[in-house]
Amino acid sequence: FEVTWDLSAAEKGGYDWFMRKEIFEQPKAVADTLLGRYTAAGALQLDELHIGEDELRRIDKIIIVACGSAYYAGLVAKYAIEHWTRVACEVEIASEFRYRDPIIDGSTLVVTISQSGETADTLMAIRHAREQGAKVIAICNTNGATIPRESDAVLYTHAGPEIGVASTKGFLTQVAACYLLGLYLAQVRGTMYDDEIAKVMEELAATPPLIQQVLDSLDAIRELAARLVDTESVLFLGRHVGYPVALEGALKLKEIAYLHAEGFPAGELKHGPIALVDQGVPVFVVVPPQGRDQLHDKVISNIQEVRARGAFTVVVAEAGDPEVGAYADVLFSLPKVSTLLQPLLAAVPLQMFACEVATLKGYDVDQPRNLAKSVTVE
Ligand code: G6P
Repeated sequence: FEVTWDLSAAEKGGYDWFMRKEIFEQPKAVADTLLGRYTAAGALQLDELHIGEDELRRIDKIIIVACGSAYYAGLVAKYAIEHWTRVACEVEIASEFRYRDPIIDGSTLVVTISQSGETADTLMAIRHAREQGAKVIAICNTNGATIPRESDAVLYTHAGPEIGVASTKGFLTQVAACYLLGLYLAQVRGTMYDDEIAKVMEELAATPPLIQQVLDSLDAIRELAARLVDTESVLFLGRHVGYPVALEGALKLKEIAYLHAEGFPAGELKHGPIALVDQGVPVFVVVPPQGRDQLHDKVISNIQEVRARGAFTVVVAEAGDPEVGAYADVLFSLPKVSTLLQPLLAAVPLQMFACEVATLKGYDVDQPRNLAKSVTVE
């Protein structure tokens, strides 16, 4: 009689892949990242930052540097940070940053985002930034890793270990941590009233159960994956913060399903990408919540345009949106949140879709070919 058990299966807690387990851990990961960082009145307290408030008031430019999914989290953050702080915020791929002689001085704040804290391109970028006199804040998930050690301050995401090579809970917690930082800067610099900050904080703190609701509503994803498993190319469209979500959705498919996928800002469709749309081409569209400028309506027209050319449309939109139903071949509904918080929900069906496609293709979801969890060479 021999008891056989598989250590890795036990670690996966009943899931087939770490990635799937990590997708399901997202409500907790986001909640843990927010925990203890604001008072009951909604004021931000990031005591761990160790950069003086005066110094943060002197900042006249923010540059976010990162790679992969962390870069996309930075692109999401840019919309929120500029809106809340009115400080110009650039986002740059770490490997491009130092080779272009970026304009940095003592009043530049560099925010670096890295799940592992060991990505060589990112590390080189922050070394360069500090040599030029910038202050560097690291948003990182790994205690004591090289990037936080070499930064002036660190704001840890509390996602817990992320094993799957494709980032999921890493990405969501990076967005949440960037938002904390953005609100904190707004508080210190006085660009938002306390009650405005409290209102956003309250909404942010309410997202974990909403992420859970999204997770509970994904039964149709497997069927969709089965339907699209043999497709050759998938397009993702989004606008505003939905644009980096589109990029992230495409990256997941490339990484683990080895499927050609591209994300575009929906407004760019007419400047090129629409030529790719042909009969049956799957187009995923992240629709902004209703009522924000005219973005919602513009994205709805984009869905009509691709559908008129034969696209198979998969629409991720707010529940109860009356306009999407007519143009969606498949619809995923998200609980109602404000535009800036939508990425925390909208990314989830896209992550799960990639996981299902890769599973159906029989690929190793956690260890995709040619990729490493942490890339420690330039
Ligand atoms: C690798 C991983 C990606 C990740 C990127 C940045 O390429 O495969 O999933 O987004 O590195 O990693 P970091 O640890 O710096 O966030």
